[in-house]
Amino acid sequence: MSDALTYLVKARPDAVGHYFAFLKDCGKHLDPKTRNLISLITKVHAQTERGFRQYLGRALREGCTPMEVLDALLMAFPALGLAKIVWAVDIILAMDLPDFRPEALQAAAEARWHDVMAIGDLAPGATSRVECDGRGLFVHRAASSAAAGADEWRVYDSRCPHQVTNIPHLALQGHTLTCPKHEWVFDVRSGECVAKGTSPLKCWPSKVENGRLLAHW
Ligand code: FES
Repeated sequence: MSDALTYLVKARPDAVGHYFAFLKDCGKHLDPKTRNLISLITKVHAQTERGFRQYLGRALREGCTPMEVLDALLMAFPALGLAKIVWAVDIILAMDLPDFRPEALQAAAEARWHDVMAIGDLAPGATSRVECDGRGLFVHRAASSAAAGADEWRVYDSRCPHQVTNIPHLALQGHTLTCPKHEWVFDVRSGECVAKGTSPLKCWPSKVENGRLLAHW
């Protein structure tokens, strides 16, 4: 949300609160993906770059695929026109989102299990940043496999859910991961955002087979 709207919510909650209630109510019969895509298109139509970046991040976090985002942009051609679609794609390219690269779009159509590491390479309770098939990951192993059950291993995308900053290994201190860009803080044991922000790290499905940790994306 822009600073101006944040200010108005605080200064005139009686008036501006109705506006947000109205917006929330408008989409209540839509599934989250559809709602996110429509919201995204409104930001393209208004050409508000900050809003577009925010809504794009949220749409991707909440399950929209890059191909669905591109479809939404192209379908809105009669309303947006080519210039606004190009404007949006230029921002996507500037954000350097790996999932939007043509080869990644192709790969997404063929999502598969990736061999991340040998399970013996990470001690119980530890977290490590690794590169796997061109993707940065934070891998956390629960301190006790018995207590963690199916959640013994957690494999997170290293890109921040706020604005997709690729979080470096130096951002890790104990169980805490702090994104260097705007200092959202995550707990690597759960992936939850515990300070400043609102969204958790993206956690890929994982499994152990023959002593190897595999992750699916
Ligand atoms: S990009 Fe803003 S906190 Fe990570």
